Amino acid sequence: MLKLGVLASGRGSNFQAILDAIRDGRLKAQVQVLITDNPQAYAIQRARAAGVEALFIDPKGFSSRDDFYVRIAEELRARGVELVLLAGFMRIVRRPLLEAFPMRVMNIHPALLPSFPGLHGQAQAAQYGVKISGCTVHFVDEGVDTGPVIIQAAVPVAPQDTEESLAERILALEHKIYPEAVRLFAEGRLRVEGRRVLIEGYQLPQGVLVNPPLTA
Ligand code: GAR
Repeated sequence: MLKLGVLASGRGSNFQAILDAIRDGRLKAQVQVLITDNPQAYAIQRARAAGVEALFIDPKGFSSRDDFYVRIAEELRARGVELVLLAGFMRIVRRPLLEAFPMRVMNIHPALLPSFPGLHGQAQAAQYGVKISGCTVHFVDEGVDTGPVIIQAAVPVAPQDTEESLAERILALEHKIYPEAVRLFAEGRLRVEGRRVLIEGYQLPQGVLVNPPLTA
């Protein structure tokens, strides 16, 4: 059984999607601990409801940002965590955690990377006027949303979309692809070669997506 550690700063709906996939038997894994940098995070309630340990680590309690991540890595290791999931963790992860878990930290981002990295990916996409956006699950490296891409999913964008309407459409897909990426990892089907993540048994989907659809 794959042992997970989840890092979240807020609402935690992606954390919930992981918990639900485990509960429904779609994902053979267990969450050892939720770590948060925010004592008000709703993710804490979700952890409690699922019987998962919730641990608040105050970033202000450390003399350097690296030390904060040294501590997080220690807590994860002490619980036997094998894969770390960032689920709305609103900080840039630093080297001590990445070195403790090389290619073992995943993130979900609400845009089709490398477009619109950083904060408010949905607002960036809506403002830019792209016709298609989506979400990305990727391994985390030292950059901001720059690590190897595991899964992406696309949604159409309408000119009248707001940050909120687009975020809602994207979030529904986030909740599908994050558990799926973790499942592929748990099944040992992901192999990282440079920037590319090879997925064992992957079939290229047929057809093309055009937005707006072509008229006949
Ligand atoms: C999600 O939309 C996630 O993709 C995004 O924050 C939201 C967290 O929601 N993450 C980032 O923007 C990371 N750069 P959640 O707390 O309900 O999972």
